[in-house]
Amino acid sequence: MRLFISDDAAAVACGADRVAARAEALGLKVIRTSSWGLHWLEPLVEIESADGRTGYGPVDPSDLEALLRGELEHKRVGAIAEHPFMVRQDRLTFARAGRTRSLSLDDYAATGGWAGLERARAIGPAAILEDVTASGLRGRGGAGFPCGIKWTTVRQATGARKYIVCNADEGDSGTFADRMLMEGDPFCLIEGMAIAGLAVGAGRGYVYIRSEYPHAIAKMEAAARLAAPLIAPFEIEVRVGAGAYVCGEETSLLNSLEGRRGEVRAKPPLPAVEGLFGCPTAVNNVLTLAAVPWILAHGGEAYAGFGRGCSRGTMPIQLAGNVKHAGLFEAAFGLTLGELVYDIGGGTASGRPVKAVQVGGPLGAYFPPTLFDIPFDYEAFAARDGLIGHAGIVVFDDTADMAQQARFAFKFCAAESCGKCTPCRLGAVRGRETIERVIAGEDRAANLALVEELCETMKFGSLCALGGFTPYPVMSAITHFPQDFER
Ligand code: NAI
Ligand code: SF4
Repeated sequence: MRLFISDDAAAVACGADRVAARAEALGLKVIRTSSWGLHWLEPLVEIESADGRTGYGPVDPSDLEALLRGELEHKRVGAIAEHPFMVRQDRLTFARAGRTRSLSLDDYAATGGWAGLERARAIGPAAILEDVTASGLRGRGGAGFPCGIKWTTVRQATGARKYIVCNADEGDSGTFADRMLMEGDPFCLIEGMAIAGLAVGAGRGYVYIRSEYPHAIAKMEAAARLAAPLIAPFEIEVRVGAGAYVCGEETSLLNSLEGRRGEVRAKPPLPAVEGLFGCPTAVNNVLTLAAVPWILAHGGEAYAGFGRGCSRGTMPIQLAGNVKHAGLFEAAFGLTLGELVYDIGGGTASGRPVKAVQVGGPLGAYFPPTLFDIPFDYEAFAARDGLIGHAGIVVFDDTADMAQQARFAFKFCAAESCGKCTPCRLGAVRGRETIERVIAGEDRAANLALVEELCETMKFGSLCALGGFTPYPVMSAITHFPQDFER
């Protein structure tokens, strides 16, 4: 009898290795797969039978004997692909999640792997760029810049060499899609980078992974070695960051890659024109590059068939925080925040009322339930003074104190600021002090007015998004939860 257990870091953190070791000790054959992304069910165990795979979760090592006797019905989840959390999804980028072994070239090829690269090689750079532009794919790291335009700029730029840099410095709170993709389907990212190299004329790519992701680093390094002959002459090297949030900003990431201090560079010049070692460079997020093999295999029009307005395709949304069904939910743009939090996320894990969600990382806005009719797309969120960012949704129940959350935003910015520009370097520290005065009840109205003025300065005067977006969580907390600032 074969058992399927994920070796994704989230599953391992929940005890998947202990469950796998116990199953092997009982003489069972264990296959370690990628994760389906149903994190609240981890460690999830699937048993193979003539009818297919049946899931049980969360499984403790001590549950295994009962499972084999057929006495674990209260933890039976059924066929995972038919689970309500799965059937509502449009899994394009995460099509293999849960189904394949991450470092198996056979599994990858058997599930459509390399079809995109094969077609890219056949049609050549101009047609690749046309397809990616037609797909409407936008930067999934957060800023949402059209990928086709970025790649065309790199293609047209002149330089001795060109580079592809994959930004895998996933630092937003509540996000894990980059990590899951790298751990679960590393060849997909490698294929996307090789296609990008063909499109822009780059011979070398770097994957810059945050040091906090040891499992992803190990998987990507192993996958890069295995795939090297298949993507040649394109070459990929994995580089590891050193724990700075700001190195997720593309220009400080490039400085870090070059061995310099991770400090933001002024733009222009854009990295697309003058990036790594002064050469034209396409810097793309993991999810952007991992969407490309599907686009090339099925055509840009097919990808653009998903989504709404200017937000085309699918977005791997990450549900986290105080939510019942935490996990990865890839869907076409357009679901409302309410559908995501209540219907799909199941409300709070604590069972208390939802007070707020923060969307887009620590620099994203807080939304109250009265705004849960917002459809999940770039423009709709911008119109409500928010951003979808890297699509992390962190849920808070009614015990959250939004004044403390506003204070945390300034504190986070002060800790992570690279120090290059004044509005961020000084503003974050002064902002935290001023919010602390508000919380202490000192001259509340005057201090709140000061915070608002400071936010305006940071928003428009900061050199990068770290200082420029800190006002989003602060001002949304003040606007939507004024009662928390009046205690
Ligand atoms: P940006 O708006 O300055 O640039 C977006 C991208 O488009 C960059 O790669 C830029 O070089 C490129 N670009 C702009 N104009 C171009 C042109 N004419 N031709 C070619 N390329 C062009 O935004 P930025 O500062 O790079 O990113 C900010 C975003 O990062 C925020 O929206 C935030 O959500 C996100 N973010 C994501 C994090 C994560 O963990 N994924 C962490 C922190 C922030
Ligand atoms: Fe550095 Fe902050 Fe200025 Fe960005 S906004 S360049 S992180 S000091």
